[in-house]
Amino acid sequence: MQREWTEDDLKEIASQLGNPTGKGGVKTGEMMNLSNNGMIATTVALLGIRAGHTVLEIGPGNGKHVSAILESTEELQYTGLDISETMIAEATQLNSTRVMDGSVNFVLSNGKTIPFTPHFFDRIFTVNTIYFWKDPLHYAKEILRVLKPGGIFNLALADKSFMEKLPFTKYGFQLYDRKSVAKLMTGAGFEIVDVIEQIDITVGNMGQPVERDIMVLICRKGSG
Ligand SMILES: C[S@@+](CC[C@H](N)C(=O)[O-])C[C@H]1O[C@@H](n2cnc3c(N)ncnc32)[C@H](O)[C@@H]1O
Repeated sequence: MQREWTEDDLKEIASQLGNPTGKGGVKTGEMMNLSNNGMIATTVALLGIRAGHTVLEIGPGNGKHVSAILESTEELQYTGLDISETMIAEATQLNSTRVMDGSVNFVLSNGKTIPFTPHFFDRIFTVNTIYFWKDPLHYAKEILRVLKPGGIFNLALADKSFMEKLPFTKYGFQLYDRKSVAKLMTGAGFEIVDVIEQIDITVGNMGQPVERDIMVLICRKGSG
Protein backbone atom coordinates (compact mmCIF):
# COMPACT_ATOMS: atom_id res chain seq x y z
CA MET A 1 0.00 0.00 0.00
CA GLN A 2 1.26 3.50 -0.85
CA ARG A 3 2.03 5.81 2.05
CA GLU A 4 -0.13 8.93 2.46
CA TRP A 5 2.06 12.03 2.70
CA THR A 6 0.87 15.04 4.70
CA GLU A 7 1.70 18.59 3.60
CA ASP A 8 4.18 18.75 6.51
CA ASP A 9 5.88 15.58 5.19
CA LEU A 10 6.13 17.15 1.74
CA LYS A 11 7.60 20.39 3.17
CA GLU A 12 10.15 18.34 5.10
CA ILE A 13 11.13 16.34 1.98
CA ALA A 14 11.56 19.58 -0.02
CA SER A 15 13.61 21.19 2.74
CA GLN A 16 15.86 18.13 3.15
CA LEU A 17 16.49 17.91 -0.60
CA GLY A 18 17.45 21.60 -0.77
CA ASN A 19 19.62 21.58 2.35
CA PRO A 20 19.92 18.19 4.12
CA THR A 21 20.20 18.59 7.89
CA GLY A 22 20.73 16.23 10.85
CA LYS A 23 19.82 12.52 10.86
CA GLY A 24 17.05 13.03 8.29
CA GLY A 25 19.59 14.80 6.12
CA VAL A 26 21.99 11.85 6.27
CA LYS A 27 19.16 9.53 5.13
CA THR A 28 18.17 11.99 2.40
CA GLY A 29 21.80 12.07 1.24
CA GLU A 30 21.81 8.26 0.89
CA MET A 31 18.48 8.28 -0.96
CA MET A 32 19.60 11.10 -3.31
CA ASN A 33 22.79 9.29 -4.17
CA LEU A 34 20.93 6.09 -4.98
CA SER A 35 18.33 7.95 -7.00
CA ASN A 36 20.74 10.18 -8.93
CA ASN A 37 23.81 7.99 -9.38
CA GLY A 38 23.04 7.27 -13.05
CA MET A 39 22.38 10.93 -13.77
CA ILE A 40 25.65 11.91 -12.08
CA ALA A 41 27.60 9.29 -14.08
CA THR A 42 26.08 10.56 -17.35
CA THR A 43 26.92 14.17 -16.47
CA VAL A 44 30.52 13.31 -15.56
CA ALA A 45 31.01 11.14 -18.67
CA LEU A 46 30.04 14.15 -20.83
CA LEU A 47 32.49 16.48 -19.09
CA GLY A 48 35.67 15.49 -20.94
CA ILE A 49 37.77 15.24 -17.79
CA ARG A 50 41.48 14.75 -18.45
CA ALA A 51 44.48 13.90 -16.26
CA GLY A 52 45.56 16.78 -14.07
CA HIS A 53 42.25 18.67 -14.25
CA THR A 54 40.82 20.72 -11.40
CA VAL A 55 37.15 19.74 -11.04
CA LEU A 56 34.43 21.52 -9.06
CA GLU A 57 31.08 19.95 -8.22
CA ILE A 58 28.31 22.22 -6.95
CA GLY A 59 26.08 20.40 -4.45
CA PRO A 60 27.61 16.89 -4.24
CA GLY A 61 25.32 15.79 -1.39
CA ASN A 62 27.04 12.93 0.45
CA GLY A 63 29.66 12.57 -2.30
CA LYS A 64 29.47 8.77 -2.48
CA HIS A 65 30.08 8.97 -6.25
CA VAL A 66 33.36 10.93 -5.92
CA SER A 67 35.71 7.92 -5.67
CA ALA A 68 34.50 6.67 -9.09
CA ILE A 69 35.46 10.03 -10.65
CA LEU A 70 38.91 9.96 -9.08
CA GLU A 71 39.42 6.34 -10.18
CA SER A 72 38.48 7.14 -13.79
CA THR A 73 41.28 9.67 -14.42
CA GLU A 74 44.73 10.26 -12.95
CA GLU A 75 45.88 13.25 -10.93
CA LEU A 76 42.53 14.96 -10.55
CA GLN A 77 41.97 17.65 -7.98
CA TYR A 78 38.28 17.49 -6.97
CA THR A 79 36.40 20.08 -4.88
CA GLY A 80 32.79 19.65 -3.74
CA LEU A 81 30.93 22.82 -2.69
CA ASP A 82 27.70 22.44 -0.73
CA ILE A 83 25.50 24.64 1.47
CA SER A 84 24.73 21.75 3.85
CA GLU A 85 27.02 21.25 6.85
CA THR A 86 25.56 17.73 7.21
CA MET A 87 26.48 16.82 3.61
CA ILE A 88 29.97 18.34 3.92
CA ALA A 89 30.58 16.21 7.04
CA GLU A 90 29.18 13.04 5.39
CA ALA A 91 31.10 13.58 2.15
CA THR A 92 34.33 14.24 4.04
CA GLN A 93 33.89 11.05 6.06
CA LEU A 94 32.88 8.86 3.08
CA ASN A 95 35.93 10.09 1.12
CA SER A 96 38.34 10.30 4.06
CA THR A 97 41.27 8.58 2.32
CA ARG A 98 41.16 10.99 -0.62
CA VAL A 99 40.62 13.96 1.68
CA MET A 100 43.70 12.90 3.67
CA ASP A 101 45.88 12.60 0.54
CA GLY A 102 44.72 16.06 -0.59
CA SER A 103 43.12 15.05 -3.93
CA VAL A 104 39.58 15.76 -2.67
CA ASN A 105 38.16 18.51 -0.52
CA PHE A 106 34.67 19.58 0.49
CA VAL A 107 33.90 23.23 1.13
CA LEU A 108 30.89 24.80 2.82
CA SER A 109 29.20 27.42 0.63
CA ASN A 110 26.90 30.34 1.38
CA GLY A 111 25.00 29.47 -1.82
CA LYS A 112 25.62 32.93 -3.27
CA THR A 113 29.31 33.26 -4.00
CA ILE A 114 31.92 30.67 -4.94
CA PRO A 115 34.98 31.11 -2.73
CA PHE A 116 37.68 30.66 -5.40
CA THR A 117 39.76 32.97 -7.54
CA PRO A 118 38.81 33.56 -11.20
CA HIS A 119 39.76 30.90 -13.81
CA PHE A 120 40.47 28.26 -11.14
CA PHE A 121 38.70 25.15 -12.49
CA ASP A 122 39.06 23.20 -15.76
CA ARG A 123 35.71 21.49 -15.35
CA ILE A 124 32.59 22.21 -13.26
CA PHE A 125 29.39 20.20 -12.95
CA THR A 126 26.20 20.10 -10.94
CA VAL A 127 23.30 17.64 -10.76
CA ASN A 128 19.87 18.47 -9.38
CA THR A 129 20.84 21.68 -7.57
CA ILE A 130 19.63 24.46 -9.88
CA TYR A 131 16.13 24.22 -8.40
CA PHE A 132 17.53 25.63 -5.13
CA TRP A 133 19.75 28.48 -6.36
CA LYS A 134 18.55 31.66 -4.64
CA ASP A 135 19.76 34.11 -7.29
CA PRO A 136 20.24 31.88 -10.36
CA LEU A 137 21.74 34.49 -12.73
CA HIS A 138 24.26 35.69 -10.17
CA TYR A 139 25.20 32.10 -9.26
CA ALA A 140 25.63 31.12 -12.92
CA LYS A 141 27.93 34.14 -13.34
CA GLU A 142 29.90 33.00 -10.30
CA ILE A 143 30.37 29.58 -11.92
CA LEU A 144 31.52 31.27 -15.12
CA ARG A 145 33.96 33.43 -13.14
CA VAL A 146 35.77 30.49 -11.50
CA LEU A 147 35.91 28.43 -14.74
CA LYS A 148 39.03 28.63 -16.91
CA PRO A 149 38.63 30.16 -20.40
CA GLY A 150 37.70 27.29 -22.72
CA GLY A 151 36.52 25.26 -19.69
CA ILE A 152 33.29 23.24 -19.59
CA PHE A 153 30.39 23.41 -17.15
CA ASN A 154 27.84 20.57 -17.27
CA LEU A 155 24.47 21.38 -15.76
CA ALA A 156 22.09 18.44 -15.19
CA LEU A 157 18.46 18.71 -14.21
CA ALA A 158 15.11 17.01 -14.60
CA ASP A 159 12.65 18.76 -16.87
CA LYS A 160 9.89 20.96 -15.43
CA SER A 161 7.20 18.71 -16.98
CA PHE A 162 8.37 15.86 -14.73
CA MET A 163 9.33 17.90 -11.66
CA GLU A 164 6.03 19.77 -11.39
CA LYS A 165 4.18 16.47 -10.92
CA LEU A 166 6.16 15.70 -7.75
CA PRO A 167 4.01 16.83 -4.81
CA PHE A 168 6.89 18.40 -2.84
CA THR A 169 8.33 20.69 -5.55
CA LYS A 170 5.70 23.36 -4.82
CA TYR A 171 7.71 24.08 -1.66
CA GLY A 172 10.59 26.26 -2.82
CA PHE A 173 11.77 24.58 -6.03
CA GLN A 174 12.50 26.73 -9.10
CA LEU A 175 11.71 24.56 -12.14
CA TYR A 176 13.12 24.87 -15.67
CA ASP A 177 12.46 23.50 -19.12
CA ARG A 178 15.08 23.36 -21.86
CA LYS A 179 14.31 26.86 -23.12
CA SER A 180 14.32 28.66 -19.76
CA VAL A 181 17.50 26.97 -18.51
CA ALA A 182 19.31 27.67 -21.80
CA LYS A 183 18.26 31.33 -21.55
CA LEU A 184 19.67 31.51 -18.02
CA MET A 185 23.02 30.05 -19.06
CA THR A 186 23.47 32.20 -22.17
CA GLY A 187 22.35 35.24 -20.13
CA ALA A 188 25.18 34.52 -17.69
CA GLY A 189 27.70 34.44 -20.55
CA PHE A 190 28.05 30.72 -21.34
CA GLU A 191 28.06 29.30 -24.84
CA ILE A 192 25.85 26.18 -25.03
CA VAL A 193 27.76 23.50 -26.90
CA ASP A 194 25.03 20.84 -26.70
CA VAL A 195 21.97 19.73 -24.75
CA ILE A 196 21.67 15.99 -24.14
CA GLU A 197 18.13 14.85 -23.34
CA GLN A 198 17.49 11.38 -21.95
CA ILE A 199 14.92 9.30 -20.12
CA ASP A 200 16.32 8.27 -16.75
CA ILE A 201 14.79 5.23 -15.03
CA THR A 202 15.44 5.21 -11.31
CA VAL A 203 13.93 5.29 -7.81
CA GLY A 204 12.45 8.58 -6.62
CA ASN A 205 13.05 10.44 -3.35
CA MET A 206 9.79 9.04 -1.97
CA GLY A 207 10.89 5.48 -2.79
CA GLN A 208 8.68 5.26 -5.90
CA PRO A 209 9.81 3.91 -9.30
CA VAL A 210 10.54 6.83 -11.60
CA GLU A 211 10.94 7.43 -15.31
CA ARG A 212 11.98 11.04 -15.84
CA ASP A 213 13.05 13.36 -18.63
CA ILE A 214 16.48 14.70 -17.78
CA MET A 215 18.85 16.99 -19.62
CA VAL A 216 22.52 17.86 -19.44
CA LEU A 217 23.52 21.27 -20.78
CA ILE A 218 27.14 21.28 -21.91
CA CYS A 219 28.18 24.89 -21.42
CA ARG A 220 31.51 26.43 -22.43
CA LYS A 221 33.33 29.54 -21.27
CA GLY A 222 34.71 31.38 -24.28
CA SER A 223 38.48 31.68 -24.45
CA GLY A 224 38.47 35.30 -25.62
C1 LIG B 1 18.78 17.37 -4.40
S1 LIG B 1 20.39 17.37 -3.69
C2 LIG B 1 21.37 16.70 -5.05
C3 LIG B 1 22.63 16.06 -4.60
C4 LIG B 1 23.44 15.39 -5.71
N1 LIG B 1 23.96 16.39 -6.62
C5 LIG B 1 22.56 14.41 -6.45
O1 LIG B 1 22.18 14.68 -7.61
O2 LIG B 1 22.24 13.37 -5.86
C6 LIG B 1 20.87 19.08 -3.71
C7 LIG B 1 22.21 19.32 -3.05
O3 LIG B 1 22.65 20.63 -3.43
C8 LIG B 1 22.99 21.37 -2.28
N2 LIG B 1 22.74 22.78 -2.61
C9 LIG B 1 21.55 23.44 -2.69
N3 LIG B 1 21.75 24.72 -3.09
C10 LIG B 1 23.09 24.86 -3.29
C11 LIG B 1 23.92 25.92 -3.71
N4 LIG B 1 23.42 27.12 -4.02
N5 LIG B 1 25.26 25.72 -3.80
C12 LIG B 1 25.80 24.50 -3.48
N6 LIG B 1 25.05 23.45 -3.07
C13 LIG B 1 23.73 23.62 -2.98
C14 LIG B 1 22.13 20.78 -1.18
O4 LIG B 1 22.64 21.04 0.11
C15 LIG B 1 22.13 19.30 -1.54
O5 LIG B 1 23.27 18.63 -1.03
